[in-house]
Amino acid sequence: MKYSMIPTTLLLLWLSVFNGVTTALTVTAGDKDSVCAATSQIIKGMLDYYDGSEYGGVVGMFKLPYYWWEAGEAFGGLINNWYYCQDTTHEELIYASLMAQRGENYDYIPSNQSLTEGNDDQSFWGFAVLEAMERNFTNPPDDQPGWLALGQAVYNTIWARWDKDNCNGGLRWQIFTWNKGYDYKNTISNACLFNIASRLARYTSNDTYAETAKTVYTWLTESSGFITLENGAYSVTDGAGIANNCSGISPEKWTYNYGILMAGCAYLYNYTEDQKWSDEVDKYVQGISIFLDSNNVMYEQQCQSSQKGCTNDQRSFKSIFSRCLAATAQLVPAQSDYLMKILDASAEAAAQSCSGGSDGVTCGLNWAYSGWDGNRY
Ligand SMILES: *[C@@H]1O[C@H](CO)[C@@H](O)[C@H](O)[C@H]1NC(C)=O
Ligand SMILES: *[C@@H]1O[C@H](CO)[C@@H](O)[C@H](O)[C@H]1NC(C)=O
Ligand SMILES: *[C@@H]1O[C@H](CO)[C@@H](O)[C@H](O)[C@H]1NC(C)=O
Ligand SMILES: *[C@@H]1O[C@H](CO)[C@@H](O)[C@H](O)[C@H]1NC(C)=O
Ligand SMILES: *[C@@H]1O[C@H](CO)[C@@H](O)[C@H](O)[C@H]1NC(C)=O
Repeated sequence: MKYSMIPTTLLLLWLSVFNGVTTALTVTAGDKDSVCAATSQIIKGMLDYYDGSEYGGVVGMFKLPYYWWEAGEAFGGLINNWYYCQDTTHEELIYASLMAQRGENYDYIPSNQSLTEGNDDQSFWGFAVLEAMERNFTNPPDDQPGWLALGQAVYNTIWARWDKDNCNGGLRWQIFTWNKGYDYKNTISNACLFNIASRLARYTSNDTYAETAKTVYTWLTESSGFITLENGAYSVTDGAGIANNCSGISPEKWTYNYGILMAGCAYLYNYTEDQKWSDEVDKYVQGISIFLDSNNVMYEQQCQSSQKGCTNDQRSFKSIFSRCLAATAQLVPAQSDYLMKILDASAEAAAQSCSGGSDGVTCGLNWAYSGWDGNRY
């Protein structure tokens, strides 16, 4: 039951932006008050898994098996809820968490996460501070780095790891040599850097970030072989080991890769006003049909329908995917109607799944299932 609580919560959280959902929690479509009442309820449930308010707990972390990176993902969603619902209930908790996890060098590489933290993990905390920056969430005091400076530190440290020596460029998955996956270059790490650089370019109007974004993007789409175009739709795969020049690509396709790349293109489109980026957005929009059922309800096709099922990490991917679709819908008006159709259908389906667990509002993993699926699917 606990496994999909965070992801679904996040989906519902950003939903407060646009319109309503019908749910096991009583919500009226299009009625912001009822949506925000529901997200408030769901956040309460999510915080059952939060450690930081308890004696011996860690501020900014959820209990195991939720890794550090998923906390970053959750706090990004909480900032959205703070902003769209004008709900200050958890403001202190969010603030304390963003501060507590900054790490010794104010770059979201706390030394005590060095056994789990990869470029993608660091990026998810980067997304949270960029969210705080874009939403004008209360900044730290003047004598300490603000959200922008923290976001820039995340960017600076990740970009410094760009690895020209293998596969013609690209980031490795891992930061530290001792972690499994140091010899693997994956789409997610590079997509995250692309997204972060695009957002910093848009926010600061400093072209250096846009140049980096383009370098990363060119490597991903033209050199790595991880992303290919098929009939106007991008196909985005997982990554490859560096041993054979990044040949032997792992073919798995995950929602979050599509979403993070799509949104990165949307930020660049907003910043540059260059049609090229709107066209790029469209190729991901075409590509995501593989994640939709006939009712436009999203699912993690790689694992949800498989015997093996989804891991704890994979269960959360639909959340950042949803938030990226929402950002794109705002930044690229031409895509808005279609993306909102997907988000509406998925939100309604997700909400009706929130009727399980011991609190009666735990959400399911399979949103096409009628009621709570017990996370079996
Ligand atoms: C890790 O270090 C941070 C400070 O950087 C601290 O707030 C946190 O409690 C520590 N986390 C754990 C799991 O010990
Ligand atoms: C944040 O503050 C700036 C400066 O006051 C303002 O231009 C911007 O619109 C604000 N952004 C949001 C999302 O409220
Ligand atoms: C733009 O960003 C780059 C990269 O962080 C930095 O080196 C440079 O000083 C910035 N330029 C300006 C004008 O702030
Ligand atoms: C590795 O692959 C890239 C792009 O596919 C190619 O440009 C490069 O020449 C290859 N390098 C080696 C050493 O084979
Ligand atoms: C960029 O996005 C902002 C909203 O965040 C919007 O007001 C502005 O019109 C957009 N610019 C373009 C060129 O679409």
